[in-house]
Amino acid sequence: MQIEQLIAKMTLAEKIGQMSQFNGMDGEISEEFKEKIRKGLVGSVLNEVNLHKINEIQRIAVEESRLGIPLLIGRDVIHGFKTILPIPLGQAASFNPEIIKEGARMAAIEARSSGINWTFAPMIDITRDPRWGRIAECLGEDPFLTAVLGPAMVSGFQGDLGSKGNIAACAKHFAAYGAAEGGRDYNTVTVPENELRDVYLPPFKACVDNDVATFMSAFNEINGVPATGNEFLTRQILRDEWNYKGFVVSDYESVTQQVVHGHTPNNKAAAAQAVKAGVDMEMVSTSYADHIEELLSEGVITQQQIDDSVRAILNVKFRLGLFSNAQTDPSNFPEWVNDEHRAVAKNAALQSLVLLKNDKNILPLRSGLKDIAVIGPLADAPHDQLGTWVFDGDKKHSVTPLQAIKEQTSGKAVVHFAKGLENSRSKDTSGFSEALEAAKRSDIILLFLGEEAILSGESHCRADINLPGAQELLAAELAATGKPFVTVILAGRPLTIRNIVNTTDAVIYAWHPGTMAGPAISDILFGKEIPSGKLPVTFPTHVGQIPMYYAHKNTGKPATSKSWEKIDDIPADAAQLSIGNTSHYLDEGFEPLFPFGYGLSYTMFDYSNLKLVETRVKMDNPVQISVDVKNSGDYDAVEVAQLYVRDLYADRTRPVRELKGFRRVFIRKGETLNIQFELKSQDLAFHNRQMKKVTEPGQFQVWIGGNSNAELTAFFELE
Ligand code: BGC
Repeated sequence: MQIEQLIAKMTLAEKIGQMSQFNGMDGEISEEFKEKIRKGLVGSVLNEVNLHKINEIQRIAVEESRLGIPLLIGRDVIHGFKTILPIPLGQAASFNPEIIKEGARMAAIEARSSGINWTFAPMIDITRDPRWGRIAECLGEDPFLTAVLGPAMVSGFQGDLGSKGNIAACAKHFAAYGAAEGGRDYNTVTVPENELRDVYLPPFKACVDNDVATFMSAFNEINGVPATGNEFLTRQILRDEWNYKGFVVSDYESVTQQVVHGHTPNNKAAAAQAVKAGVDMEMVSTSYADHIEELLSEGVITQQQIDDSVRAILNVKFRLGLFSNAQTDPSNFPEWVNDEHRAVAKNAALQSLVLLKNDKNILPLRSGLKDIAVIGPLADAPHDQLGTWVFDGDKKHSVTPLQAIKEQTSGKAVVHFAKGLENSRSKDTSGFSEALEAAKRSDIILLFLGEEAILSGESHCRADINLPGAQELLAAELAATGKPFVTVILAGRPLTIRNIVNTTDAVIYAWHPGTMAGPAISDILFGKEIPSGKLPVTFPTHVGQIPMYYAHKNTGKPATSKSWEKIDDIPADAAQLSIGNTSHYLDEGFEPLFPFGYGLSYTMFDYSNLKLVETRVKMDNPVQISVDVKNSGDYDAVEVAQLYVRDLYADRTRPVRELKGFRRVFIRKGETLNIQFELKSQDLAFHNRQMKKVTEPGQFQVWIGGNSNAELTAFFELE
């Protein structure tokens, strides 16, 4: 009601003010900007983190503007504020919504203590292209996984929105931004509507169901229409179909970029298009401030459209409790980067590490090692281990792998450190001799390779996703020493690491693990903790395989290992055949290097006894499935058991497998756990040729196991 009363009192200029977001003050707050706030012409500010300045502009808004409406203070708090968590892609490898929620909660508290009340996260764009720099920021390739983890992040940020230390979250980027052509950021997206609805939208719908306060529209065009100015997306789907009551902010200047896209002739038309589409707030560009009044008087947009936007924006300010108190008193909050927050970051890093290879159980490292070589450009790189999107993180808090390994082995072993290469891109091999020296003096080589933070993230895409610089060469020379050899890779995306996997005994994929990279990696290396991470994204063998994802279609001519005609086996002058052809590359086959969901442990898990309570199930009855998982190795450990389903025949063909459930379970060595899954018929629904969401009766196949290549299988029929 208060909102309606407020709207009734607002002038048009004040309403447009609420719909406008301005960039941070960059230095002192100018008199001009203060005056703008006093006049009620500013709804939100982004990129301001100085608490003193934030409190001052909030005071002006509340005490000196006519209606006293507080400001939304937005910031990209993507994976931590001061204490940095693993990049979101790394967090997704935990397959653990609790870890993600806890991390977001910690980040919210730190950000809120700085006056920030709105973050532009979670980023829940599905992508199947590791060339895209923003893969670092998303939660992987899978709609089901993202639809579990994205809402968990929302819960962490928002909690009970009005209470202390909570900030508004933002589901972004609506929609299909991760499907950019060729993995080039901001690029064209062409995606059929059924795929949009079945693959790209479910995480957004899940965030709506979890009450996410805001949405952000995307930079890309989708099927010819920019996502910022797309009535189909932000009116029809978001408002009409999903009944979303929060508000939509544009991306940075994406309203006026409609002109650059070639969709609207000028900024005025761009503003009209965005308002009509239901983009409630314009980020940074000023086409709303400049043109809404005129557009309204010309009847191009309606008063109702404006009032709806203002209502939704004010509602978030109310939910945040800003009308009761917009001031931030830092003494109400714990210190940044305190021990508790570091523990949260370490735990997230621990669960994000994925063990990809462990020949002869070289890991965990045996005790009694006397000399340890720590080598590589990422071993002691406090800035780079933080990853992309850390505007507010400070490398001075980082604990590097080198520091942690030294501490862990202090008094027991000598650590011989050599960078080998100045940074990940370096091609200067003059540091190799020192690295080889260190290796020769040691019982084991621990090599830290990867990508610097700046090689992933927004607009930081790569056409070649090999390890950059001379890193592979460094690894090859070290391998030639014949010493036991472990490689840890810190990167913002899946890299094509086949050569490394072939030349080293063990590989840990660490993503960019954040502030506590060192202690987490060191605990895993020395067996204080057991790896449990699983890949949230497929690892291709070669960049040319992209897109390579597990939930692909079968095609009419699927490849098998027998059907792969290998390039080197083809005789000279071979004649072309028209029989026996299947879908693969002569040189790179059809399989990835590591499948989605993959990740080893120091123990072994055996899956058996896959059982369906009924194999003929009536529509609308749940399908109940159980499996035994035995920990047959030597360590108590956590496994992520995964359930995959295939709808064998459908009106519109279905993927060969889709993740439909997962469970993180702790199993003691020697013990067997019976795990149960339940599938509801709506879990099996998809959009058919009439664009209706349906579950079709018929035959289904299920698999349960430790990754998307799980072999244990059973069938059921839905009647
Ligand atoms: C990004 C958004 C981000 C915004 C504000 C844009 O360039 O695409 O994800 O929230 O900037 O920093």
